[in-house]
Amino acid sequence: MMSSIKPLIAGNWKMNGLRSDMDEFAAMAQGYSSELAGKADAMICPPFTLIAALANHPDRGALAVGAQDCHTASSGAHTGDISGGMIADCGAKAVIVGHSERRQDHGETDALVAEKAKAVWDAGLTAIICVGETEAERRGGTTLAAVEQQLSGSVPQGATAQNSVIAYEPVWAIGTGLTPGIDDVAEVHGFMRSFLANNLGGEGTAMRLLYGGSVKPGNAAELMAVPHVNGALVGGASLKATDFLGIIRAVS
Ligand code: PGA
Repeated sequence: MMSSIKPLIAGNWKMNGLRSDMDEFAAMAQGYSSELAGKADAMICPPFTLIAALANHPDRGALAVGAQDCHTASSGAHTGDISGGMIADCGAKAVIVGHSERRQDHGETDALVAEKAKAVWDAGLTAIICVGETEAERRGGTTLAAVEQQLSGSVPQGATAQNSVIAYEPVWAIGTGLTPGIDDVAEVHGFMRSFLANNLGGEGTAMRLLYGGSVKPGNAAELMAVPHVNGALVGGASLKATDFLGIIRAVS
């Protein structure tokens, strides 16, 4: 059965992007808005420094803008941090929380990720909550246990299909050119769907589940056709308009 969930292709620019990259964004936005917006929702999550410029770009059209992280508090004495409300104020619609690079580089725990997701909701935005096993967990056969633990700890009660998106990103597949086998992706996504449906009811059934980790135009069609894969979180291949548009085009 074809899924009735509209796919989302979200680009994560990570710590890349300067004002001189605005033309690349404009090319993405024009290509997406003119021929692909009916196929899938799409979003670019640039560094904080570019959110306002991209959100207000005259060529942005239907291409949404998001952020890559936020603080748990709405304001206060937190030097160097950015709140969900500030991100919303810049015109962004979503915030990635719990990306494995933040879990690794900044020691973010499941409990902190859950607090961040709630802060995102409080700002009226959608939380893109990331989970995924390490290479050791995959080799040790504990992938599903690792994903279950992260889902239980990082997805707060109150999550809905509107306020949350889950991204499954195997840590060992991020930026490496490696991807899990199609059967492995199907297993994890099927598991996540059951877990979320059991815990959140209909909201868990309707929630978008993205796959992330070395998605490219050449492998996107195969990955996006897996049951319960409702889009992609794309790192490296979201930096170039031709690649990003190629991935959206591959959505069936
Ligand atoms: P990648 O990154 O597409 O470069 O592997 C994915 C991600 O980290 O979101």
